[in-house]
Amino acid sequence: YSVMGMGHAEFGGGPVDEVHDGHAAHGWDGPPRQPGDRDVDSLTGPGDRPADVAVELVAARDGDRYTLNGTTPGPELRVEQGDLVEVTLVNESVPDGVTLHWHGVDVPNAEDGVAGVTQDAVAVGGSHTYRFVAEDAGTYWYHSHQVSHSQVRGGLFGTLVVAPPAGEAADHDVVAAVHTYGDGPTVNGRRDGLRVDAAPGESVRLRLVNTDNEVKRAWLADGVAFRLLAVDGRDVHEPSLVTDAAVTLPAGARVDLGFEAPSVGTAARVELGGTTVVVAPPGAAVAPADVGDAPAEDVDLLHYGTPAPLGFDPAAADREFEYRIGRRFGLVDGRPGMYWTVNGSMFPDVPMFVVSDGDVVRMRIENSGADNHPMHLHGHHAVVLSRDGEPATGSPWIVDSLDVGRDETYEIAFVADNPGIWLDHCHDLPHATEGLVAHLAYT
Ligand code: C2O
Ligand code: CU
Repeated sequence: YSVMGMGHAEFGGGPVDEVHDGHAAHGWDGPPRQPGDRDVDSLTGPGDRPADVAVELVAARDGDRYTLNGTTPGPELRVEQGDLVEVTLVNESVPDGVTLHWHGVDVPNAEDGVAGVTQDAVAVGGSHTYRFVAEDAGTYWYHSHQVSHSQVRGGLFGTLVVAPPAGEAADHDVVAAVHTYGDGPTVNGRRDGLRVDAAPGESVRLRLVNTDNEVKRAWLADGVAFRLLAVDGRDVHEPSLVTDAAVTLPAGARVDLGFEAPSVGTAARVELGGTTVVVAPPGAAVAPADVGDAPAEDVDLLHYGTPAPLGFDPAAADREFEYRIGRRFGLVDGRPGMYWTVNGSMFPDVPMFVVSDGDVVRMRIENSGADNHPMHLHGHHAVVLSRDGEPATGSPWIVDSLDVGRDETYEIAFVADNPGIWLDHCHDLPHATEGLVAHLAYT
């Protein structure tokens, strides 16, 4: 079972004959069994249990736009923690084939939706069913992982909320996914921004999702205070009130903001990467445009919130890896050019990071490239230990999508507890096409 070479079907956007429709037609049973697979269930998802939520998503292409069930983006999926989720993806008319990756959800490997690694892309006329238990409450999104750099850009994505058990819900729990098309930014596909009607004093949980390739900033205008409740689907421990600072939202990342709806006559205006969310009393006339000046400061997650136990000891690492991002001249798909490198090599030639189930892993991500790189690790969440040698002092800062700026070095740690073969790549998706992809593989 080799990933090398197969993987090109995904990022290369190769010819249609790389899509093996035999598998699509007969269903895909997960990676072949190997002697090392002690627990096959953990690789292939729950067996006979009936689904709590079953959804069909029909993918279609219309010029350079993509739709799911006829809309761009696709439907917002809401499930409850613990639900067995079953999503059947049908490819109606996407010529390059399509998959669904559950970005930020630590699903079993066979459900990860990476064409060329965990499944073949679903060809036109085919379908594929994903099954996973939504173990962790939080804000996520899903998107195609076949020719992702153009399919995600073209709208082949949607949002997924895993709601915590009842009783903890805010009065208004709203997802706002920002996405930029050629003609400008949208929120939830709307060009005119998003309006939330909320009576003064009601609680609002705003789940921001960045589906673009570039980092966004989000802030509340008019001095409305908020708390940064969660990052990448993981709660911040004892988040403090923020006023007059912005939150940065790397490509692929999510942040949940909590605040009280302001009183009559005023509104909470959330500026989100060039589009606006307005929270105002029902009937109040509020122009979305005026969000004031951007705050000078960003919330620094290295020091935000209060420390809490991690559940593992990053100092007792079983494996230590370097993920050095660079750039050099080379060939990708036979085309010469300047490409991104991981430890000096380009996808698919980057040696795998090999772990065993249960390992505590430390990884040093060093970016000496000429750009920022939002690094996304599939199947796992990692805790940030330090940035440029400065240790984290706040709440455990847990990520699946971490922006590593130019000349920055991060140290992260995670427990390898989800066997399979996982991508660890840049979510500025053209960069992934241009070499910035590595794999984490379990022995
Ligand atoms: Cu959101 Cu490998 O992707
Ligand atoms: Cu990058």
